[in-house]
Amino acid sequence: MNYNRPRGTYDLMDQDIINFRTVEQVLRTIADLYTYREIKTPMFEHADLFKKSVGEESDIVIKEFYNFTDKGGREIALRPEGTASAIRALVESKKLVSSTLLTKWYYFGEMFRYERPQSGRQRQFHQFGIECVGDFNEYDEVEIIMFATNILHSLKITNYELEINNIGSNASRMKYIEVLKEYFKKHIDELSEDSKRRLEKNPLRILDDKEDGVKDFVKNAPTLDQYLTEEENAYFKRITALLDQFEIKYKVNKNLVRGLDYYNGIVFEFVSKDEALTAQSTLIGGGRYDSLVKQTGGPDVKGIGFGLGVERIIIAMGQDNPLFTPAQVDVILLPFSENALNISYTISNILRLGNGISCNISNKTFKPDKHFKYVDKFNCKYAMIIKDELIKNDKVLLKDQATRNEEELTLEAAIEKIKTNC
Ligand code: HAM
Repeated sequence: MNYNRPRGTYDLMDQDIINFRTVEQVLRTIADLYTYREIKTPMFEHADLFKKSVGEESDIVIKEFYNFTDKGGREIALRPEGTASAIRALVESKKLVSSTLLTKWYYFGEMFRYERPQSGRQRQFHQFGIECVGDFNEYDEVEIIMFATNILHSLKITNYELEINNIGSNASRMKYIEVLKEYFKKHIDELSEDSKRRLEKNPLRILDDKEDGVKDFVKNAPTLDQYLTEEENAYFKRITALLDQFEIKYKVNKNLVRGLDYYNGIVFEFVSKDEALTAQSTLIGGGRYDSLVKQTGGPDVKGIGFGLGVERIIIAMGQDNPLFTPAQVDVILLPFSENALNISYTISNILRLGNGISCNISNKTFKPDKHFKYVDKFNCKYAMIIKDELIKNDKVLLKDQATRNEEELTLEAAIEKIKTNC
């Protein structure tokens, strides 16, 4: 019986897993630099958590949900995103009691969405996300965008555009939604089936729908800023002024609403211009949410954050990205006798544990040609030749695989050389 992996999933190995780990490491390092603390939540939650936060009418809940009834009769969902879970965990552990304290969290883990798989879109994918919760101001909000910009910079991704919008408060948006419904009703015949379904409950999503969003009547629809209060428009101006001041390039996209119900105020997306990602171009998406914490049973504090798809980011980095270096073995030990083989294991311990040098031992042969064939299978910096006559003099022969230079050295001197060059 042969088994294939489920559609929309993938296996990671060889260079791909090295690249994945590199990206994970960079993300974690940046999160540390911004003093964000890690939070790890379960991969499944009560389905209701996502219905109430991401939205009953969102694509994520209607089309993409991996939900099921467990043996105890509870409706469970594999998490489709990290924000709702993180906020649930923070509220549940009473980490958000004070509204004045700013708490900063990041997560890295698998998410699940039943989507049509294509390049940069899987059914199981990894998200790195951050959530900043508490009493933040415009500077904090702009710092979140800077954080995202710095991630792309650190990963050497340059071919992208930052789009931002202000979707205002719930009250302003409600007024606008009524106007929008009336407008789209006049164009009902031009709407896709998806948009027709959204018209009554979620007409905002028609604006940034991949299919309908490019049509002229959608581009010319009334815009939300006309229905925002003066204060809301002034707040957005302060944000864009700070972005200008910090020389962060952006484009205001008045049709950007994002597909998750919890947002209000500023929303943003970092959109790739890379051809490899034409259909799935949003690398990072985020925004502010003022009611989610309270709605999840916590205090009346606001939050802001973003999430990025690790697999999508790896595609955008490109195969020639200088961060994607092949795995290197520092040393391979080549013993030329039974005694040398035995001693190789003691040496390997000294190399690995005492000195952090990666190594393995060619232990199936004492023949030079077979040894060197073995070494060629690895991207190896040095070969360490161990022979009885060398052992007698407390020496090893260290061969630089790139230059082919060989040097007789004491083990201590060989270790110093390896540590300097690896
Ligand atoms: P989102 O826009 O739904 O936002 O997802 C964030 C990112 O996850 C996307 O920009 C994309 O890179 C990646 N992503 C989403 N779906 C897939 C998929 N099927 N395959 C590969 N990558 C995918 C959120 O999830 C919000 N929780 C972000 C947030 C955090 N907002 C505030 N805080």
